[in-house]
Amino acid sequence: HKTEPTIAIIFGGTGDLAKRKLVPAFYNLFLDGWLHEQFAIIGMGRSDTNDDKYRKHFEDALGEFSRRQPEADKWAAFAPSITFLQSNINDPEAYELLKAKIESLEAEWGVRANRLFYLSVAPRFIEPVTVGLHKSGLAADVERDRIVVEKPFGHDFKSAKQLNCLLTATFKESQIYRIDHYLGKETVQNIMAFRFGNALWEPLWNRNYIDYVQITVAEEVGVEDRGGYYEGSGALRDMIQNHLLQLLCMVAMESPVTFEAEEIRNRKVDVLHAIRRFSREDVGKAAVRGQYGPGWIKGKKVPGYKEEGGVDQKSNTETFAAIKFYLDNWRWQGVPFYLRTGKRMQEKGSSITIQFRQVPHLTFPDAMAENMFPNRLVINIQPQMDIRLRFMAKKQGMGMRLKPAEMVFDFNDETTPAQTPEAYETLLLDAMQGDATLFMRSDQVEVAWDVITPILETWESRPSLEFPNYAAGTWGPENAEALIARDGHTWTVTLPH
Ligand code: BG6
Repeated sequence: HKTEPTIAIIFGGTGDLAKRKLVPAFYNLFLDGWLHEQFAIIGMGRSDTNDDKYRKHFEDALGEFSRRQPEADKWAAFAPSITFLQSNINDPEAYELLKAKIESLEAEWGVRANRLFYLSVAPRFIEPVTVGLHKSGLAADVERDRIVVEKPFGHDFKSAKQLNCLLTATFKESQIYRIDHYLGKETVQNIMAFRFGNALWEPLWNRNYIDYVQITVAEEVGVEDRGGYYEGSGALRDMIQNHLLQLLCMVAMESPVTFEAEEIRNRKVDVLHAIRRFSREDVGKAAVRGQYGPGWIKGKKVPGYKEEGGVDQKSNTETFAAIKFYLDNWRWQGVPFYLRTGKRMQEKGSSITIQFRQVPHLTFPDAMAENMFPNRLVINIQPQMDIRLRFMAKKQGMGMRLKPAEMVFDFNDETTPAQTPEAYETLLLDAMQGDATLFMRSDQVEVAWDVITPILETWESRPSLEFPNYAAGTWGPENAEALIARDGHTWTVTLPH
């Protein structure tokens, strides 16, 4: 159903996220008819710009960032809803100006609109915005006013807790939407449909049948122009603490009773609680870090991490991490979960591999264990969007010889990428409709930090002497191969066809 009258206020309105993701997402929601006629975006920022220039700034970027090409008449209908308010978010006056602007729009519409405050700002600005919103009473309606908080959500366990205290002192938890854009991806949401919409998988989805699980999020890009941010972050904070642990939760969670925000989030928190915590010794054995040096990506020479803008020549920041987790619960006892993520990998690709156990007994005379491929389910999240089940089949011809075969479900058989909603569209619509299922609750964020804290602390206290230890355009440091090879497995890289 359509959204209610809404005013979306973007703090950080001239930033990258607004241009690449937020405004294109609102525009696509508009095209798809999700937005109420009474809808407005107010961009907040310090730049000296005006409404016309501000709209043009988005129009120019749409071609590059929107899944649909802009159509002149449609954009002309949408653009007037966007305005800009020059403001310094540290200044209480900014909130009075904002209030006047919001109230005049509401007076024009004749309604008290829903207000969506989107905090796309560096962490140090979250406090002044929260205080500003509180003092001005701008977000006082607990039913209608919501705050969306972008990552990074804290820098470690302690700062995340402080941030939660700060936010919950002013807003109700039900008003706070902590975003993890991976949860908005179609293929990620599909994991729940796949697991809980079928009777077939659940009986097998446990330690009795599953040998191990792998989750890879590989990027081809380097740190781009975000060296300044990334230096203080690294792969563990930037990707594992949020996106990869969330994927792990989707794979490992118990079946929810209802599809309701609290129920789903409870089941996910259960998983995070069950993750076995690392001792310092475990970090050396089960966690591998890497940093890229110069190398080649698709025939193009690219610089190493230390040569990127805003990066310290002696940087100890990891751009790659591979970790082996165990879950201490009945379903997953003894099943390793290998997670890895890195920048400047050979290929962009995110996937989850569920590796089933080998058959208990070799029936066929010609079958040798090494020719028998155990069943494997690969869930490709992006850019390939499909699910592949590998199984053994008869090789055609005389005799009883076997070969691996595949069953494939391909998202793109039904929709093209241009028809598939972007994660931010899904999440903004959910936030406007008050559905927090795909957002992070305070305890989820904190437990996820708790899981990675021993690794973070160990790595920070012992700078790596080997960095850079992988060349751009490869699959990461050798130790990452060793981490999984020690258990007799390999990372799933290429897909069997
Ligand atoms: C962000 C990280 O959260 O996710 C980036 O800060 C990363 O470093 C990005 O590149 C990856 O998102 P996606 O949707 O491109 O896989």
